[in-house]
Amino acid sequence: MHLPDWPHYHRPAADPAAPGLLLLHGTGGSEHDLVGLADRIAPGAALLAPRGRVNEQGAARFFPRLAEGVFDPAQIIPRIDELAAFLAGALRHYQMDTPGRLFALGFSNGANTAAALLQLHPALPLAGAVLLRAMVVLDRPAAPGSLAGRSVLLLNGARDPIVPPEHAPRLAGLLRAGGAATELALHPEAGHGLVPGDLSAAREFLQRAP
Ligand code: MLT
Repeated sequence: MHLPDWPHYHRPAADPAAPGLLLLHGTGGSEHDLVGLADRIAPGAALLAPRGRVNEQGAARFFPRLAEGVFDPAQIIPRIDELAAFLAGALRHYQMDTPGRLFALGFSNGANTAAALLQLHPALPLAGAVLLRAMVVLDRPAAPGSLAGRSVLLLNGARDPIVPPEHAPRLAGLLRAGGAATELALHPEAGHGLVPGDLSAAREFLQRAP
């Protein structure tokens, strides 16, 4: 199977029982950013981590923004579509496309990207996602039934200066419209950065995942 041209990191599973993880970094990150986090959340998992191809003054992102927290869907959707096309090919190439075996793990811009992939491309073989500090960037419900059987964990911080607290419940609602099961935790002390409770919640969620 031909591997599409896109900067990314892949590591095969060391533990065949662990779910595969699609790692999506935050603004200014790289394909290596979340590997250490993944190792603590799901040791031995197969990993696929693309790098965002949008350059915001030297910072890699998955889609453009007009300003912090201000988005134009017309700029976002084509970027999500091209990422989905890469992922479909790469997941087949690396044999990570077994239904029910792959979760997205995204932080900040990567969490927003994971949510947009679920909203716009439910045919991708994602069993669900762990969204770390996600916000609503595409204010549109997933198509009814399109996300049936998927599970999404949203982990946000009550003191996040970037993501207002009402965003996570709104985003959860947009995903539930498609039939996804959602769990939401708002950490009272956390800001935009991660706290130890995020790791334990994500680990526990993935261990429970079917
Ligand atoms: C975004 O642009 O996706 C969000 O504002 C998160 C960020 O990258 O700061």
